[in-house]
Amino acid sequence: MSTELHVHGRIGQSVKRVEDARFLRGKGNFMDDIELPGMLHMAILRSPHAHARIKSIDTAAAGAMPGVIAVVTGELMAQHKLAWMPTMSGDTQAVLATDKVRFQGQEVAAVIAETKYQAEDARDAIVVDYDVLQAVTSPQQSKEAGTVLIRDDKEGQKDNHIYHWESGNQATTQAAFAKADKVVRLHTFYPRCHPAPLETCGCIADVNPATGKATIYMTSQAPHAIRTVFALVTGLPEQNIRIISPDLGGGFGNKVPVYPGYVVATAASLLIGRPVKWIEDRTENLISTGFARDYHMTGDLALDKDGKMLALRVHLDSDNGAFFSDAQPSKFKAGLFHIVTGSYDIPTAHVTADGYYTNKAPGGVAYRCSFRVTEASYLIERLVTNAAIEIGMDQAEFRKKNFIKAEQFPYHSATGWVYDSGDYHKAMDVALDKLGYDELKKDVEARRKKGEVTGIGIASFTEVVGAGHGAEFDILGLRMFDSAELRVHPTGKAMLRTGTKSQGQGHETTFAQIVAEELGIPSTDIAFEEGDTDTAPYGLGTYASRSTPVAGAATAMVARKLRDKARKIASHLLEAAEEDLVWETGKFYVKGSPDRAKTIQEIAFAAYTNIPEGMEAGLEGVHYYDPPNMTFPFGTYAVVVDIDKGTGQTKVRRMVAVDDCGVRINPMIVEGQIHGGLTEGYGIAFMELITFDADGNCIGSNLMDYLIPTAWESPKFELGETTTPSPHHPIGAKGVGESPTVGSPAAYVNAVIDALSPYGITNIDMPVTSDKVWAALRSKGVTE
Ligand code: CDP
Repeated sequence: MSTELHVHGRIGQSVKRVEDARFLRGKGNFMDDIELPGMLHMAILRSPHAHARIKSIDTAAAGAMPGVIAVVTGELMAQHKLAWMPTMSGDTQAVLATDKVRFQGQEVAAVIAETKYQAEDARDAIVVDYDVLQAVTSPQQSKEAGTVLIRDDKEGQKDNHIYHWESGNQATTQAAFAKADKVVRLHTFYPRCHPAPLETCGCIADVNPATGKATIYMTSQAPHAIRTVFALVTGLPEQNIRIISPDLGGGFGNKVPVYPGYVVATAASLLIGRPVKWIEDRTENLISTGFARDYHMTGDLALDKDGKMLALRVHLDSDNGAFFSDAQPSKFKAGLFHIVTGSYDIPTAHVTADGYYTNKAPGGVAYRCSFRVTEASYLIERLVTNAAIEIGMDQAEFRKKNFIKAEQFPYHSATGWVYDSGDYHKAMDVALDKLGYDELKKDVEARRKKGEVTGIGIASFTEVVGAGHGAEFDILGLRMFDSAELRVHPTGKAMLRTGTKSQGQGHETTFAQIVAEELGIPSTDIAFEEGDTDTAPYGLGTYASRSTPVAGAATAMVARKLRDKARKIASHLLEAAEEDLVWETGKFYVKGSPDRAKTIQEIAFAAYTNIPEGMEAGLEGVHYYDPPNMTFPFGTYAVVVDIDKGTGQTKVRRMVAVDDCGVRINPMIVEGQIHGGLTEGYGIAFMELITFDADGNCIGSNLMDYLIPTAWESPKFELGETTTPSPHHPIGAKGVGESPTVGSPAAYVNAVIDALSPYGITNIDMPVTSDKVWAALRSKGVTE
């Protein structure tokens, strides 16, 4: 009979999310739930113009209004050397404008008052005299000679160009193109969209005038990094800064950057000596905080006569807005876009990228994406489907012909990545099987003969997540490790803390499961905390699906450290040599005598009561994990659409998603992540758009115009899986949170393009709205 202990919540168990007990009862602790004694409120005055010189700011009337404590302008901030701040990409960004406004919604002044309403009323009484300038709203316009200079504040800046960046090998790529039998080109635009978390951004800055301690409650996905940046920017000693990121109502990258509101609220609290709260409203969130994408991309794929891929050439122009504040590792100016060869064995590739300033909000955040991987995945998967259609080969067959084969891993890509593991053929086969692909293709043919517009779209994405190896990956010089601290109490219960910060992903549940697996303590006996810089170990935070690959690995490693110590204590308790002890989840027993055993709970008690001579008491430790490589989750998504010729409306009839994220810690949570990401992918593909008119006015500044999907619009998802563990991750896990947002937009759009391909339509840029589809059909003479 097995003597193995049953340990609740081990890896692979779909245990319920512990955090939901408070979320579902309305007992979460979000930013706007926090009220501090004596707290003041801040409202920000934002620019109505996209580009204008500030002639004067009159705050007299506002300052005299009831309840107003202070009116802060850029001039006041400048007196404290805080009118400008550094961005994550090494640029500078105005905190409150002093000279010019450079995008609609830019922060111009702030009012601090006793109540939020008094602050907002007084804000509306500030009078600003602007001299309106020409607005630049696209990289194309930005490039044009004679276009007005946006960043005239920067010494030596002569035009609106920010960076040029390259990856891969130009010479070998050119040579391969010269030999190609066929070159397929796609020019596409991945439009600006917004992470739009349900909870907007905000903070409460509470600087204690007596102690000088600054406690800042902040909607931050990366509290430790923010603490360091705050220390460097304000000169406050780092030990006197405490960032607390409470429960977050979503983040998706939007809560990575430092926003001017945080800085102004902190400066105001410092000057006034009372806590100051600032919470954005929805429009402020959509028009001024970290947008995503805005990439104009051209891809060329070189093929031989049999449909084998020979080379890939890509150029992109990125629209970075008024300040280059992309949140991404320093070395990579276009993020991790060079994963653009995707799942394909393409011998050579060359990628060039140019970034441009425009009069639009800054950001460039990785909206549920590992630093521009979504854009890369979209381009290659759209290009591959277009190529298959153009050469008349089945989309699935064309992909299989060119996939990296299972035996080629670890695979060295043409742009320098070393893919850890994968089996793309298998994921494709599972998807096709689920779809009933052969039958479905016949059905499509039959429907088309009847005049119906219907199609199948496939996307076989490869992600790159888990940033990253410290020698290569840093943000503002901070190496991208992460950490876990584990304390096992005398009664065998434990406290786990990590350097990450969940925004709804379920870390309290899954990270405890890693400890349950490694140490045999039931997951329900483990409390979990993150997001408080006074208590949690230093880490770079949660974005880019890095929590499981990095902090998850740190958690496994610290548990193993404690297990090593537990072995020594067990050896003492059992009076047996360490090498004679066998570990079986939750206990050590003496080889050959399974009854002579000590459970981890007994060992924990002994760690405080009965340790061998010379050993330090306690059972706790910390581990800082520097990942040796990224993890490369992948999958195949397939979509079936029906299009109404009369209205251009697209209906998603089926959506099959096969994901491989290595070992799944909690399969239910993984499925939840995939459902969420597929829904966001649907929104991006069909609904969401932040656009601008010629004057730089932001269209899409509220949820009536910026359409995010609800359960009503979202398709039904049919999930499948394969499991290819990461060879370098301690528990074989890869990240998953972002795979569905990365992989699905191309699958949705490919289905539309496949449906429209009989009419010679090769591209419609997202969002693929009914009017665009209708116009495309119309242009080909299809009228109904
Ligand atoms: O960094 P972030 O938490 O956004 O993304 P992630 O590491 O992909 O994890 C998202 C959620 O899925 C977390 O609760 C993970 O622990 C869980 N997960 C899992 O159960 N198994 C995996 N192989 C990957 C993630």
